Amino acid sequence: MTSEAFKISNPQDDSSTELPLVDGTLGTPGVDVRGLNTKQGVFTYDPAFTATCSCKSDITFIDGENGILMYRGYPVDQLAEHSSYLEVCYLLLNGELPNATEMEDFRHAITHHTMLNESLVKFYDGFHYDAHPMAILTGIVGSLSAFYHDTTDIRNPEHREIFAHRMIAKMPTIAAAAYKHSIGQPKIGPKNHLDYAANFLRMCFAVPAEEYEVDPVAAKALDVLFILHADHEQNASTSTVRMAGSTGANPYAAISSGIAALWGPAHGGANEAVLNMLNQIGDVSQVPKYLEKAKDKNDPFRLMGFGHRVYKNFDPRAKIIRGYCHEVLEHYGMQNNKLFELALELERIALEDDYFVERKLYPNVDFYSGIIYQALGIPVNMFTPMFAIARTVGWAAHWSEMMADPGMRIARPRQVYTGYKLRDYVDINNR
Ligand code: SDX
Repeated sequence: MTSEAFKISNPQDDSSTELPLVDGTLGTPGVDVRGLNTKQGVFTYDPAFTATCSCKSDITFIDGENGILMYRGYPVDQLAEHSSYLEVCYLLLNGELPNATEMEDFRHAITHHTMLNESLVKFYDGFHYDAHPMAILTGIVGSLSAFYHDTTDIRNPEHREIFAHRMIAKMPTIAAAAYKHSIGQPKIGPKNHLDYAANFLRMCFAVPAEEYEVDPVAAKALDVLFILHADHEQNASTSTVRMAGSTGANPYAAISSGIAALWGPAHGGANEAVLNMLNQIGDVSQVPKYLEKAKDKNDPFRLMGFGHRVYKNFDPRAKIIRGYCHEVLEHYGMQNNKLFELALELERIALEDDYFVERKLYPNVDFYSGIIYQALGIPVNMFTPMFAIARTVGWAAHWSEMMADPGMRIARPRQVYTGYKLRDYVDINNR
């Protein structure tokens, strides 16, 4: 939908160009600059895409100023309270909440794709026991593109659906197997009678030697964390999946590129970095020292789990997770969890400090999530794989939305060239 145009004038010749404004249903409109190069001989310049819309999307809306996050129009706090991760997966993929029959069919489809091909399981043996699980996830998911030759017609909606179901279903099995590999224990397969989060916890913590009962409090907390991490519009890893998918690459390879992008400490890797940071700070008495380090431009230390490209207010996910921290820690008798107390004090002091207030740096989704993961017995190097499990549906939904667009083209940004002008080759003897 396009409304009035945006007029720009060229200072070099006083010519002007009208650029159409592209309005959405909510949020900031975009100026369609596609004609700028042919009409005015210039590109837009926006390193790190801080003000660039790469696409239109119906999936997720973020209002960074007011700390609002909605999946297909439903506020994430309502979904966290009333829905389940699998129902949110259906919503993100299909655009509507399912009725009872649709939900049962969807649950059956996901449940019956949770196992891994035994040939794929052999790939784990190629990794050393201390390989980071994100390296394993990147490799194993990329290797999925070597299977499923029967459904790689990315223009076929049915093939796109089965890909999404397989990816969502297999990620917990793949991640749990990576954890088992790292501790030298036998891999535990999925059980169809368990729900999504409970199945993952059992695949991580069950051993062949005895029965394992999943703690419903742990399963519920994990399901809420999965809901909160499910999608976040055009973040770095989702944009990576879109970029890779725009070439027509196999969707499993595109998801693998998203996992690799998520691993970075500026993105999904921040949840692991927060726990390492809290352990580094160690005690509330050290908080002022580390806040000074975070403010010092010459010091590489940053307050991990703080700040966000879009949220210039509280990340709504961080608020919900902070609330769950209290509930989970109390359930496990960890009310006096030192790291949580340190995190709360760090947040309190930082939000009274002009440096953070002026830059609108608030806790983000990664600041508190690790406190819960650790209380559930999940090791720190598995924190980012947890994020990857949850975000798989967001990546699949955005990939599917893009592939369904008949106007989809390969993504190919331009640059402002700042290198040498034309010069002739010089023989080595004359250099
Ligand atoms: C996720 O995009 C998404 O939606 C991502 C995500 C999702 O769900 O997909 O929400 C998940 O990735 C959350 C973010 C996790 N990362 C971290 O917690 C790492 C710590 N945060 C920062 O690295 C940073 O805040 C970013 C990467 C999150 C955002 O970086 P920006 O938008 O490029 O901000 P910036 O670096 O330009 O910072 C603006 C100012 C700078 O100071 P000045 O140059 O103005 O003096 O704020 C400072 C920065 O130095 N700053 C920080 C800081 N974050 C920003 N200073 C200290 N500690 C921090 N954490």
